Amino acid sequence: MSKLCLTITEKRISDSIEICKKYESSVDMYEFRIDFLEKSELENLDNFKSSKPVILTYRKVKDGGQYSGSEEFRLQVLSQGIKTGNFAYVDLEEDLISPEIERVAEKNSVKIIRSFHDFNGVPKNLAQKLQSIKRSEKEIPKAAVMIKNSKELLAFYKEALKIVDKDKILLGMGNTGFNTRILAAKIGSYLTFCSKDGASAAPGHVSPEVLNKTYQFRNISRDSAIFGIIGNPLMHTKSPEIHNSGYKKLGIDAVYVPFEIDNPETFMSIAELLGIRGFSVTVPFKSDIIPCLDSVTNSVKEIGACNTVTRIGKSWVGENSDYVGFINPLKREYGSLEGKKVTVIGAGGAAKASIYALKNEGAKILVLNRTVEKAEELAEEFDTEFSGLDEDGIIKLKDYNDVIIQTTNVGMHPMENIDPVNYYNFTGSEFLYDIIYNPETTKFLERGRNSGCKILNGWQMLLEQGYRQFKLFTGMEYPV
Ligand code: ATR
Repeated sequence: MSKLCLTITEKRISDSIEICKKYESSVDMYEFRIDFLEKSELENLDNFKSSKPVILTYRKVKDGGQYSGSEEFRLQVLSQGIKTGNFAYVDLEEDLISPEIERVAEKNSVKIIRSFHDFNGVPKNLAQKLQSIKRSEKEIPKAAVMIKNSKELLAFYKEALKIVDKDKILLGMGNTGFNTRILAAKIGSYLTFCSKDGASAAPGHVSPEVLNKTYQFRNISRDSAIFGIIGNPLMHTKSPEIHNSGYKKLGIDAVYVPFEIDNPETFMSIAELLGIRGFSVTVPFKSDIIPCLDSVTNSVKEIGACNTVTRIGKSWVGENSDYVGFINPLKREYGSLEGKKVTVIGAGGAAKASIYALKNEGAKILVLNRTVEKAEELAEEFDTEFSGLDEDGIIKLKDYNDVIIQTTNVGMHPMENIDPVNYYNFTGSEFLYDIIYNPETTKFLERGRNSGCKILNGWQMLLEQGYRQFKLFTGMEYPV
């Protein structure tokens, strides 16, 4: 298990003590970043108290901190801090070579964390470098490196796994590196850092609440099974909450993490390396992932999109749970779609999965899309009507208005004020289904509801595709 360490970045010592009290039960230790303190506070470090072990850190601007004064003053403050007896560890950067401070630390039983930061990427020989920066066997080496793309993420994990059994603190910064913070126990990192709610002391820090509640961080061990989700952008995804809470309720030793990547093929190497057992796929990789897999189901072939990949034996198998997630809530809320006239707005991957499911239910379909050629392609493939998202389309829509389904990203941030069919007047008898769930009620749904239409958003769809994935990943029903 790795420890959860809260980074304190207050301006005053009294506020820092309050933070320690507030988070006492949710973290294992603290890092006191005194480079955030007002200068006048620095002479009162002996007033700082905490019931948990604390790392004393005085970070320079060059290493991602706030301190820009002389090295002499920094050493003097660190030395005074160590002597207070309030700190279990002191963080000294690799270029801070001071036998004097090492002697003071040793005398006061303060362990040295020897750190280096790379904001440009993952150094080639990360594992070797981590081992070589230690100035004595007692020091704990620490590396924080920026991970900008899938290739660097793969390089990071390759290096990390070379030294999985050695004492170290290792983490990847940035959105793509976020998963390395969650998987600290997997790579043998002594701790992972986090920040108080609403603040982020470094790129990729989240709050202890997120780590404890969404990820059950303190239950993750080297043996935990890894599942995840690939996509870009991904940091808003709700899928970790769904899957991880399912594991918790059923007592499954597993963790589900986001991988914000830029290359699905490279991700497959990461999946092999980490022994990932299954992963969800979201925008924009639902089609691009298909050639990377060993086999796919018929629904994936027909829809041309895959949102679920499971490891079966040595094979990667692609399935599609989107269309089941899409159709079940609609049937529950609306009833049978047999013979109903349904308009689908959009002609992307989500539209295709929707049309596939609607066809299976016997609906008659009109596809409306901004780029009419794409609507035409879908119409040919699934034998439906089609039109552009224009005046002609609206005339046709009046005849296909039992159910209107919105599958584009229009209505989602940053287009939350746009309704893609704002020139269509609802009669009030249409059933409206928008697959967006954030915001809860898009402009399209809001306008329809004001005209008396029944509405459904994408929340239930998100849950149901997740439940189906959960079953494919674990073999168990999701504990609703
Ligand atoms: P997804 O897999 O989520 O469906 P996609 O395949 O990229 O994503 O498809 C996006 C859909 O949203 C397309 O139908 C797109 O219309 P175009 O084919 O004309 O690009 C539609 N879309 C995106 N932005 C739009 C906008 N501003 N107005 C209307 N439609 C839009």
